[in-house]
Amino acid sequence: MISYLYNILLFIVTIYALQYPVPVSKCPGEDSLRKCLDQYLFKGPVNFRDNYTAYNKDIDFEYDKLIIHFPVAFAHPIDEIDVQNAINCAVKLNIPIVARSGGHSYEGYGMGDKDCYLVVDLVTLNKITVDTVSQTVVVGTGNTLQSVELVLMLELAD
Ligand SMILES: Cc1cc2nc3c(=O)[nH]c(=O)nc-3n(C[C@H](O)[C@H](O)[C@H](O)COP(=O)(O)OP(=O)(O)OC[C@H]3O[C@@H](n4cnc5c(N)ncnc54)[C@H](O)[C@@H]3O)c2cc1C
Ligand SMILES: *[C@@H]1O[C@H](CO)[C@@H](O)[C@H](O)[C@H]1NC(C)=O
Repeated sequence: MISYLYNILLFIVTIYALQYPVPVSKCPGEDSLRKCLDQYLFKGPVNFRDNYTAYNKDIDFEYDKLIIHFPVAFAHPIDEIDVQNAINCAVKLNIPIVARSGGHSYEGYGMGDKDCYLVVDLVTLNKITVDTVSQTVVVGTGNTLQSVELVLMLELAD
C-alpha cells in the first residue's frame, strides 16, 4: 500500500517537473498581437502562454534547457506567407521577433535573448527538393542534418 502511494506521488512529481514555470503575466502588446495575426489571417497554430500545454511543449522542443526565456507566443507558420505575416505583425507592434529552426542553440537563442519575443518556429517548413541534373538541393530551414542526410542518401541510392 505504501509503495503504491509512493509510486503515485513519484508520478505526480515527475509530471510536475516536466512543466516550466510559465509567467502568468502578459507581455507588452500581447492582445494586439493576437488581433493582428487574426487580421492577417495567420493560418498555423499560435501558442500563447495561456495555452499552457502547447506552450510548454514548444519550450520543451529546445535541445538544451539550461537557459529558458519565456516568449510572448510561438507562431507555427505553415508557409512563407505565414512567415511574412508574423513578421509584419511583430514589426508593426514593436515586438521583438526570432526565428527558430532546429532548437539546438546551446544558449537558447531560438527563444530570443530575453522574455517576450515572438518565436517563429520554422520546423514545418522542412521540404527538401533534389535536382540531380543541376546538382542543386533546396533545403527548408526546418530540417536537421539527419533529415537532410536521409533524403540525400536515398537520392544517391537511385
Ligand atoms: C548536440 C548538439 C550537437 C551539435 N553539433 C554541432 C556540430 O557538429 N557542428 C556545428 O557546427 N554545430 C553543432 N551544434 C551547434 C548547432 O549547430 C548550433 O547551435 C545551431 O545554431 C543550431 O541550429 P538550429 O537551427 O537548431 O538553431 P536554433 O536553436 O533554432 O536557433 C539558433 C539561432 O539561429 C537563429 N535562426 C534559426 N533559424 C533561423 C533561420 N531560418 N533564419 C535566421 N535565423 C535563424 C535563431 O534565431 C537563433 O538566434 C550542436 C548542437 C547540439 C545541441
Ligand atoms: C492549444 O494549442 C493547441 C496546439 O496549437 C491547439 O490544438 C489547442 O486547440 C489550443 N487550445 C486552446 C484552449 O486554445
